[in-house]
Amino acid sequence: MIRLGVNIDHVATVRQARRALEPDPVAAAVLALLGGADGITVHLREDRRHIQERDLRLLRPIVTQRLNLELAAVDAILDIACEVRPHEATLVPERREELTTEGGLDVIAKETVVARAVEQLKKAGIEVAVFVDPDPRQIEAARLVGASAVEIQTARYSEARTATERQRELAALEQAAEFAHAQGLHIHMGHGLTYTNVQPIARIKGVEELNIGHSIVARAVLVGMERAVREMKEAIRRA
Ligand code: PXP
Repeated sequence: MIRLGVNIDHVATVRQARRALEPDPVAAAVLALLGGADGITVHLREDRRHIQERDLRLLRPIVTQRLNLELAAVDAILDIACEVRPHEATLVPERREELTTEGGLDVIAKETVVARAVEQLKKAGIEVAVFVDPDPRQIEAARLVGASAVEIQTARYSEARTATERQRELAALEQAAEFAHAQGLHIHMGHGLTYTNVQPIARIKGVEELNIGHSIVARAVLVGMERAVREMKEAIRRA
């Protein structure tokens, strides 16, 4: 069964909209786990627009399954990661003006920086994934810098406007997964997945983990976190 990592960043987005104390992403994490989440994912961004250091530190002892920290390969965040030691870290690109992570990390162009970050995280006992486009060159580069997993970005699939385009992007993801498997990498996927588009992705051979945020939090606002997670787990199971 594929693991579901529930990304709770946008619970913190609502809190930060008022610089208030609620809703607390830590409470959301507990409810997501009760709903069947296999892990919790948070992105501690340099600009701290949603998740705060306090959230990460509180989540660490509470999330006993898998806490996955998304982070940019920059010293200040890497130091926090190595101190808190989540089970898993996913290196992502970060641009201040973006609404959400746009595309995978260019591991080839940033090889030295990424390799150093992977080494530092691994030394702290953290499993390391790199968020990449469904591009064999980037997947191979992720292996070469020492990552044990790739999170292959599904944004182009999620944003496809026609059935033909969607099929093409799905085929690219299938081929990327096959390639990553042959490279001996663990395979995660995520970005833009929803209750209606998740099933073809959950059927791709070799995929071990899906990280889903916006769609689950959006539903949770209306039906509650526990139910929203249960419904996503069910959608994945039916695939
Ligand atoms: N995976 C990565 C690497 C991400 O940066 C994000 C967004 O924070 C997600 C998965 C989840 O994307 P979404 O919120 O669209 O489900």
